[in-house]
Amino acid sequence: MPSTGILKHPMEQEVNASLKKRHSIISGRSDFWSSSDEDEGVQPHEKAIAAGQPNPPYCVRNIEQHELGRREIQIAEQEMPGIMALRARAKDDKPLKDAKIVGCTHINAQTAVLIETLAALGATVRWAACNIYSTQNEVAAALAHAGFAIFAWRGESEEAFWWCIDQCAAPSAGWQPNMILDDGGDATHLMLKKHAATFKQIKGIVEESVTGVHRLYQLSKAGKLCVPAMNVNDSVTKTKFDNLYSCRESIIDALKRSTDLMFGGKQSVVCGYGEVGKGCCQALKALGCVVSLVTAHINK
Ligand SMILES: NC(=O)c1ccc[n+]([C@@H]2O[C@H](COP(=O)([O-])OP(=O)(O)OC[C@H]3O[C@@H](n4cnc5c(N)ncnc54)[C@H](O)[C@@H]3O)[C@@H](O)[C@H]2O)c1
Repeated sequence: MPSTGILKHPMEQEVNASLKKRHSIISGRSDFWSSSDEDEGVQPHEKAIAAGQPNPPYCVRNIEQHELGRREIQIAEQEMPGIMALRARAKDDKPLKDAKIVGCTHINAQTAVLIETLAALGATVRWAACNIYSTQNEVAAALAHAGFAIFAWRGESEEAFWWCIDQCAAPSAGWQPNMILDDGGDATHLMLKKHAATFKQIKGIVEESVTGVHRLYQLSKAGKLCVPAMNVNDSVTKTKFDNLYSCRESIIDALKRSTDLMFGGKQSVVCGYGEVGKGCCQALKALGCVVSLVTAHINK
């Protein structure tokens, strides 16, 4: 018989459940809305294949989550005035009307705004996640509900990860991709290895990550990069904006979620004083940390 001190009052359990739900909403995580399939570890594409649909129009964790995802996308739209202005200005001209884009990025509310902007400008897209952990399931559901070919869920297996990308990269009767928007190089490499003839038809690749750009340089040196590729990672808007301002927020978010600690008074060490290091120093200092810096040189 446990002591009465361990037993929880029903009201306390209710409050805890409410807090857990609120935390899920605030942190953008969808644990609260997980289907039982997620708990059982069933991968959605296994269900599609078992149901005799090896090439479904989309594959997400739970389409019923779409309303929450749409609200998150609407909030993101308010925070992205540049891309929304572009959407308003170019939607009638449809400058991307012949673009057939294979996308492979993190799938979150901000990427959803990008995807819907590309479509508004005339592009046809098929999109998979570049990371098995980062997909916001409710956002993927909202995109799928809006008719986009989205193949992504949080907690993809390795095999599911490649299956999702292949659903986008593989040519079919109604789908001949001609552009790649990549973050990490996996879509590029899958298409090059598995669909070489389609890869040759690609008009251009844009690559966002350090790793992906490195892989493109390797391909180029080996003489295998037969299509133009753009290094988005080294653009000024990435290095001077994203690296500084985004990492300034995401570093704290990641450290807090993983450690669940208060940071005031903690002694922290930042290695490197590029744009990322600068943002990290600012964020840690703002939380009251004592910040030490180790760097080879100070970037201007
Ligand atoms: N997670 C993300 O979203 C994200 C985004 C951008 C960059 N990054 C990563 O963050 C890191 C820093 O990016 P950045 O754009 O600020 O790079 P950067 O090249 O502008 O700056 C790197 C800094 O590290 C210093 N440095 C290099 N070698 C060192 C060593 N051995 N000891 C101490 N200092 C050293 C350099 O002097 C420089 O100040 C990179 O690894 C990059 O890939 C992550």
